[in-house]
Amino acid sequence: MGESKKHVGVLGLGRMGAALAGTLLGAGHDVSVWNRSPLKAGPLLDRGAKLAATPEEAASADVVLSCLSTYDAQQPVLEAASPKVLVNLTSGTPEQARTAAKWAASAGIDYVDGVIMAVPQQIGTPVAQILYSGSEPTFAAQRDVLEVLGTPVFTGEDAGLAALYDLALLGIMWSTMAGYLQALALVGTEGVTPEQFTPMALAWHSAVAGLLPGIGEQVASGDYATDVSALDINAAGLAMLVETSRGQGVSTAVPAVLRELFDRAVAAGHGSHAIASVIEEIR
Ligand SMILES: NC(=O)c1ccc[n+]([C@@H]2O[C@H](COP(=O)([O-])OP(=O)(O)OC[C@H]3O[C@@H](n4cnc5c(N)ncnc54)[C@H](OP(=O)(O)O)[C@@H]3O)[C@@H](O)[C@H]2O)c1
Repeated sequence: MGESKKHVGVLGLGRMGAALAGTLLGAGHDVSVWNRSPLKAGPLLDRGAKLAATPEEAASADVVLSCLSTYDAQQPVLEAASPKVLVNLTSGTPEQARTAAKWAASAGIDYVDGVIMAVPQQIGTPVAQILYSGSEPTFAAQRDVLEVLGTPVFTGEDAGLAALYDLALLGIMWSTMAGYLQALALVGTEGVTPEQFTPMALAWHSAVAGLLPGIGEQVASGDYATDVSALDINAAGLAMLVETSRGQGVSTAVPAVLRELFDRAVAAGHGSHAIASVIEEIR
């Protein structure tokens, strides 16, 4: 890293903030840390971090990363800190990110919003995809620091974009997990264990993931013709999943929501179209 060594302030030493600060220390940056509960800084101080007594003290750094639980918790800390350059890694909504960007602009702070698509243990590895939005020149100027944390991806100048990507991606995660839990509950009624079922779930999940680019192309073109599988066949399958869930005595909540959506799309005339056509109902 050599000449690009920087003084980085880190506000918030929860699970994620501590991982960020530790990774920056490992890469040889000077790191000043602040946390509401200063005791959490102990392991980082042992590794060479400096303890800032106040957010303002940490903000004397070249760049400040903030990673607190929520925007509401964070705003008074940011106002006290008033850094020169801020990379906000606290999760929130696009509107919260835009409001924070406006506040930063009014306070003369260069601002980039970021969302972390990783768990703390992955920070510092390429698997940790971190999405950014806001000021592109600020992102470019801090890229050397941000690359240490994971794989940085700049999504656009609208400060709310990274948060929008975050929630969209988390939606994929939550619906996948809910589908998996529904499946475990269903096969579990016949004594099938997660250990027995999960290899098939993994193979199936990867086959389904392979379909996403094709679905994306259909959404982009609006051409929902299919020679693979029509929506009405899938809607009928969903009805069977709901009926079987009920019959096996497990909740129908997860498949019932999808069934309702698919049925609406069929009723709107998409029965012979590809599953991608369901987006017309979602929109
Ligand atoms: N953990 C993950 O896997 C993960 C992944 C992606 C994104 N994120 C995001 O990263 C952010 C931090 O998550 P985390 O897992 O590090 O949470 P965490 O372990 O619960 O840490 C929360 C941090 O916020 C601070 N805090 C909370 N309320 C505060 C207040 N009123 N004033 C000052 N400080 C306050 C805590 O300080 P104290 O130590 O004093 O309580 C602590 O530093 C969240 O926005 C989360 O969504 C986390």
